[in-house]
Amino acid sequence: RGAAPVTADLAGRHVVVSAGGTREPLDPVRFLGNRSSGKQGYALARTAAARGARVTLLAANSALPDPAGVDVVPVGTARDLREAVVRAAADADAVVMAAAVADFRPASYATGKIKKKDGAEPEPVALVRNPDILAEIATSRPREGQIVAGFAAETDDVLAHGRAKLASKGCDLLVVNEVGERKTFGSEENAAVVLGADGSETVVPHGPKEALADTVWDLVVERLPGK
Ligand code: CTP
Ligand code: CA
Repeated sequence: RGAAPVTADLAGRHVVVSAGGTREPLDPVRFLGNRSSGKQGYALARTAAARGARVTLLAANSALPDPAGVDVVPVGTARDLREAVVRAAADADAVVMAAAVADFRPASYATGKIKKKDGAEPEPVALVRNPDILAEIATSRPREGQIVAGFAAETDDVLAHGRAKLASKGCDLLVVNEVGERKTFGSEENAAVVLGADGSETVVPHGPKEALADTVWDLVVERLPGK
């Protein structure tokens, strides 16, 4: 790091960040979704741009304004996001999956609006699994030396769940948030532990999402191969 006022330690790097939450349509007017605001992913995109990176932000249904100097690609469903990640990751130095990806989608899509039937109870909604984007990128590593990071919200034995998830996904870093009522969703602040595949544990105290984002980039930079 030099004496520059803003540390350009991601200059010459391409980073891909996913943000927001996927929506899985049932019919033209309804979807299964989640409460992810996109704030953490947008903070990652802004901070990476400030550190000199070329940033591709894959934005799933976020209402946030496009960050300046960032290439924003809007996506809807988990399958859309998978396609966009695969495309953007081909030449990426780092991929950070901050988006909340729906684990399941409706097994079928009704091309016309689903209507009530006179007095009858509704049919159950059958679901099928979505692709696991993080595991796919972490195991395929489209670019050599690429760093792959994910996020996980856990309850109960948060660190044990986090360690198991890091290993099963095969990623380099996993940011683990403890969730409970009123924690994390839609708030400006976030507290977390970042687990490394090398056994590292970085505690990030409660604070702005930018601070957590900068810690993630610090850990990514440490792990990036030299240019
Ligand atoms: N993720 C993904 N594709 C999915 C599901 C999750 O890429 N189909 C990514 C998320 O973006 C996140 C990480 O995987 O970075 C962990 O998400 P999480 O929902 O905690 O993991 P799951 O494997 O879905 O585990 P769980 O059954 O606990 O939801
Ligand atoms: Ca999940």
